[in-house]
Amino acid sequence: MQGSVDGSERRSLIIQDIRDRTGIDEAMIEALVTAFYAQVRQDPLIGPIFEEKVRDWDLHLQKLCAFWSSVALMSGRYHGQPMQAHVSLPVGKEHFDRWLELFETTAKAVCPPAAAAHFIERAYRIADSLELGIASRRGEIRTPRWEPGLSMR
Ligand code: HEM
Repeated sequence: MQGSVDGSERRSLIIQDIRDRTGIDEAMIEALVTAFYAQVRQDPLIGPIFEEKVRDWDLHLQKLCAFWSSVALMSGRYHGQPMQAHVSLPVGKEHFDRWLELFETTAKAVCPPAAAAHFIERAYRIADSLELGIASRRGEIRTPRWEPGLSMR
């Protein structure tokens, strides 16, 4: 329809707005991801979990840059399944808390405030949903009653 903004145009406007407001670009994402995992690897609580599992750190960092690019800039660069990657790891609340603490400190150190806030908000939400998903698959909480496609009659 003439004069209206279609889906992809709207998406570009949203992405441009995020870039303008926060200054986030691929270089900032790479700086954040690199600095964050340098901290993670040295951490006594969660470092060993990564060292046990990650064989190729370059590949891991590339994947995580694509992930954050998709999350923060909606670039669609990431095509993995984070839940699958975490469900069998020996992690619980204290690991997620530490992960978030390190992420928050690093984001505030590496990024300007608006960008750090943008990353941190998303990290908290994703950590919550991973933690919930893991607990549910382990049978630690009951699976939700509602699921997409459930019809309410
Ligand atoms: C308890 C805290 C966490 C630990 C110990 C942890 C550990 C790991 C490990 C060991 C891998 C590599 C898995 C493999 O190569 O098989 C991985 C992958 C990944 N993690 Fe985490 N993680 C944690 C929290 C998070 C959070 C909060 C996020 C997102 C905000 C995240 C995002 C990812 C992504 C995107 C991958 C790549 C998955 C893929 O292969 O596509 N992780 N994590």
